Amino acid sequence: MPIKQYFELDNGDRMPMVGFGTWQASDSVLEKAVESALAAGYRHFDTARAYENEAALGRALRRWIGDDSHRRKELFVVTKLPPGGNRPELVQEYFDASLKDLGLDYVDMYLIHTPFAFEHVPGDLHPKNPDGSMRVDNSTDLLALWKAVLKLKETGRVRHVGVSNMNVEQVSRLSAVSVPAALQVEVHALCQQPALVAAMAARGIPVVAYSPLGSKALADMLAEKTGREYPDLLQLPPVTRAAAAHARSPAQVLLRHTLQRGVAVIPKSTDPGRIKQNISVWDFELSESEMSELSALDRGEQGRICDFSFFINVDKHPEFPFKK
Ligand SMILES: NC(=O)c1ccc[n+]([C@@H]2O[C@H](COP(=O)([O-])OP(=O)(O)OC[C@H]3O[C@@H](n4cnc5c(N)ncnc54)[C@H](OP(=O)(O)O)[C@@H]3O)[C@@H](O)[C@H]2O)c1
Repeated sequence: MPIKQYFELDNGDRMPMVGFGTWQASDSVLEKAVESALAAGYRHFDTARAYENEAALGRALRRWIGDDSHRRKELFVVTKLPPGGNRPELVQEYFDASLKDLGLDYVDMYLIHTPFAFEHVPGDLHPKNPDGSMRVDNSTDLLALWKAVLKLKETGRVRHVGVSNMNVEQVSRLSAVSVPAALQVEVHALCQQPALVAAMAARGIPVVAYSPLGSKALADMLAEKTGREYPDLLQLPPVTRAAAAHARSPAQVLLRHTLQRGVAVIPKSTDPGRIKQNISVWDFELSESEMSELSALDRGEQGRICDFSFFINVDKHPEFPFKK
């Protein structure tokens, strides 16, 4: 059965189901990677103020757009309000800074990056206490923040607003004011979040899977810090079996599994061959039995990699979204 290649949003805009992740790439490497991604057909690009790479992404996108305003309309550019900006009175300032660095007239989607907040320290997106813990701002009023983010739409410089790293209860609370245009959360074979995906489907909210390949760099960093073991998703037997059966790579199988669940993916790569591979996922289909085998890999909360344990103390914030 063919699967959709876009989510159609409320005003008819289309968000491609395969986007390009940009976290953890140096500026020069990212610019080249974005050129490869555009050539390979990616039109959905995911960044964040916190990645400190909006300017590099913007340069590569603007080179591609050139003088052709139609090309801008082909793109779907997403960026995010950092935790240090999670106060209503700071939203406009952080948004303006993102737009200026991107060098674009508008962004397609603006997300609240996390429901927890840091103190606002100009020039420091990740402010820390002397003991290394984060300077957490526990006074977050999520509804007031959401209303301020929604107001950005009135300026015409953001077409859609959504959220990231929120749980079902938080999305429900926000939805009473206005339904988020998307929810971006960690989803992959070991962390499939079936209840959250079903709850969003019931509300018509597209889910975008971050770290869809298991975020190797983050997993390696956390393994070194904590001693915890993070299995390599690309080597899991159901993944390699399906890859061999379809003559595709393990990464393509992982992405296809998530796409067949109706969830968009934003894999990151800086390698031209892998960039191309990650968007070449439309010409094969996982069977029902392969889907069941892959779905059985889910480890629930144990499978989560990006648990924000690298931000010491954020788990004590009243809006910290994940269960222990
Ligand atoms: N909202 C949030 O809080 C949040 C959190 C995390 C991530 N994100 C977004 O989601 C994007 C993707 O997540 P991620 O960067 O954490 O991890 P990911 O996309 O799951 O994995 C990236 C890793 O996989 C490797 N890789 C990519 N394609 C591959 C292939 N075909 N075969 C083998 N290895 C491959 C990459 O190495 P190479 O580059 O060498 O190919 C890189 O090490 C981010 O870049 C960011 O835009 C959002």
